[in-house]
Amino acid sequence: MQRTLRFLLVLVAGLGLLAAAGYFALASITRSWFEADMELRSRLAVTSAGRTLDRRWGGDRHELTETLTDITRDERIMAAAACSPTGETLASTEAYPSMFTCESIRGQSGDSRAWTTTADLPSGRVHVTAVPVGDGPTRHGSVVLVHDLSFLSRREATTRNVLLVAFFTLALGAAVITLVAARLAWRGWTLELRQALAGGGTAEFQPLLRDVRSLAERLASEREYDARTGLWSPERLRSTLTQHLSGERLVVLANREPYIHEKTPTGVTVLHPASGLVTALEPVMRACSGVWVAHGAGSADRETVDSRDHVAVPPGEESYVLRRVWMTEAEENGYYYGFANEGLWPLCHVAHTRPIFRVGDWEHYVRVNRKFADAVCDEVDSDDPIILVQDYHFALAPKMIRERLPRATILSFWHIPWPNAERIGICPWHDEIIAGLLGSSIVGFHTQQHCNNFIDSVDAFMESRIDREANAVVQSSRKTLVRAYPISIEWPVHWLTDIASIEECRASVRRDLGLSDDALLGVGVDRLDYTKGIEERLLAVDELLTRHPEFRGRFTFAQLGAPSRTKIGRYRELNDRIEELAAEINRKWEHVGGNRPIALLRAHHEPPDVYRYLRAAHVCYVSSLHDGMNLVAKEFVAARDDERGVLVLSQFTGAARDLPEALVVNPYDVGQAGDALAAALRMSPEEQQERMHAMRRLVSEFNVYRWAGRMLVDAAETRRRDRMFGRLSAPTRSGRSVGT
Ligand code: F6P
Repeated sequence: MQRTLRFLLVLVAGLGLLAAAGYFALASITRSWFEADMELRSRLAVTSAGRTLDRRWGGDRHELTETLTDITRDERIMAAAACSPTGETLASTEAYPSMFTCESIRGQSGDSRAWTTTADLPSGRVHVTAVPVGDGPTRHGSVVLVHDLSFLSRREATTRNVLLVAFFTLALGAAVITLVAARLAWRGWTLELRQALAGGGTAEFQPLLRDVRSLAERLASEREYDARTGLWSPERLRSTLTQHLSGERLVVLANREPYIHEKTPTGVTVLHPASGLVTALEPVMRACSGVWVAHGAGSADRETVDSRDHVAVPPGEESYVLRRVWMTEAEENGYYYGFANEGLWPLCHVAHTRPIFRVGDWEHYVRVNRKFADAVCDEVDSDDPIILVQDYHFALAPKMIRERLPRATILSFWHIPWPNAERIGICPWHDEIIAGLLGSSIVGFHTQQHCNNFIDSVDAFMESRIDREANAVVQSSRKTLVRAYPISIEWPVHWLTDIASIEECRASVRRDLGLSDDALLGVGVDRLDYTKGIEERLLAVDELLTRHPEFRGRFTFAQLGAPSRTKIGRYRELNDRIEELAAEINRKWEHVGGNRPIALLRAHHEPPDVYRYLRAAHVCYVSSLHDGMNLVAKEFVAARDDERGVLVLSQFTGAARDLPEALVVNPYDVGQAGDALAAALRMSPEEQQERMHAMRRLVSEFNVYRWAGRMLVDAAETRRRDRMFGRLSAPTRSGRSVGT
């Protein structure tokens, strides 16, 4: 308040000074206008009395005095005198001041111009004008008119007062307007900043400013693009493909299959694996059709394929083909569990698990990549197809496919982080891995940071030219573009079509977990993987209860954990550790009574069940220690059509760049994460809505159709250029090449 008053005073004083300067300038201008006016009036008065003056000039002095008295009837003319050219006073009115004798004025009005002066008399200030009477030979002398200037002082005083009041009002008005505008602008700016930084009572859980800035830039440029081209949907993706692929089929290579046929005691059942890759890619394939080449891992997979190892999926909808490739147990152990998941996975994730590289695993990795590359080549229907290769399981496949299909457009997407050059150098076969990926036309990552790391790795280890401006690598005239395509989920999510209301979901989850009707619910959904920070998550729940006693006995965190890669020792260890930790925390708070802090649900959950939990939750915590994107964060946002619920999100996920409205935390700082959970549980419904609304808007626009669409448009564009280049460089009839 004091600051405001001080600001107001300074502003008024400044404007007052300006007003005073303005007043003096204006007063001097008006005074000169008045004096010119006086002179003009004198001339007019003498001219209009001209004839009478002429007639009476040499005659009766009494009559001349009468004429002069007539002239002084003008209220501003005080007195008048008639002077002969020799300086004799011929006549004068009663009030004529004696100090202006005709003698003293003689000669001054000798020419045809009027002579003027001003003087201060005891009665006040006067203006004296001597106006010549007659012209040339008939020149009689002059009439001296004395004007009362007291009216001028009065007028000046009035003008000054009006001006001062006007300037003061203006100054005050301007000050107030400036102050209000400045306050509003400041408030708006801080509000915006606070919102952008997830402010309010939760300012400490801010996203990184750098991420907010780069998101804002990306949104601005991509929304501008969307304004011209419209939002991405399955229909748009389909029509984009029709336009660019002209009926050819899209071939996707990914290790994990979207539908797993499993034998159960009651017959064959279809499972949907817990996989971000499948979550993203499956809706794309449903929209585009084509072939998905994957490892047939289900116990009933062989029984459900045809003679070409094909099965039409999704069951009942059959919009695309799943081509299953088989592996021996040794191959799966070496390629999948060994090289991919004990080597590359910990190498690419900063989660402090040591990567293990074995020669035998590498050999399997090479062999299996060849096997899948061959399967892909069997599925294409042209010599320049568009092929999408997915993830770290198939780093070598792009080069192998290129050897068989030199004209193919190969787009490889790496779903996990790409580490810095120093770290990738740990892999004894880093050259082969990078060279394999450079067989692609385009290599895609979730973030620009991963693109930069990849380019730096190429720079460090490969013979190539880096075109940093185009984000491309050139090797013997073949170019590989390196691009960021942040992955997302389908929108709307088809699993949510017939799902129960939020209240029903919440009631059924509370019932299933044996919780009270007013229990506050937290939820986490993951494959049980050490990169997901599940131990840190449980510790954060413990911190929540330690630091915020109001939630003891009232809050339960349900952790849905799909067992994953359990053939690997580190994963088994993790399972045991999580089990123990959950039990330990529950025991610690047992004495409080009420709801237990942790409900650990270690099992595969089908998508409708996952969404039921996401809808039931008051808070969802994604605590990955390192994650390329993390689609659970986006699934939580999609699940909340009530625009309620708070997302607490690790700063080490790609998703934190897309969702700055989440409460962004460092999962290693379990105290901070505990506080974030408390802030989430205390957050007002209005703030929840504001945040959730913004996140839903982003995910709905930046959906998986856009991810696939933009990659495919880039791939199609690359192919168009390659085709043009191929035509230009094709041998002419004379046998020579044209073009570059
Ligand atoms: O996130 C990396 C990733 O390979 C994804 O592509 C996939 O969602 C997830 O891990 C599942 O892994 P897996 O196929 O080994 O079960």
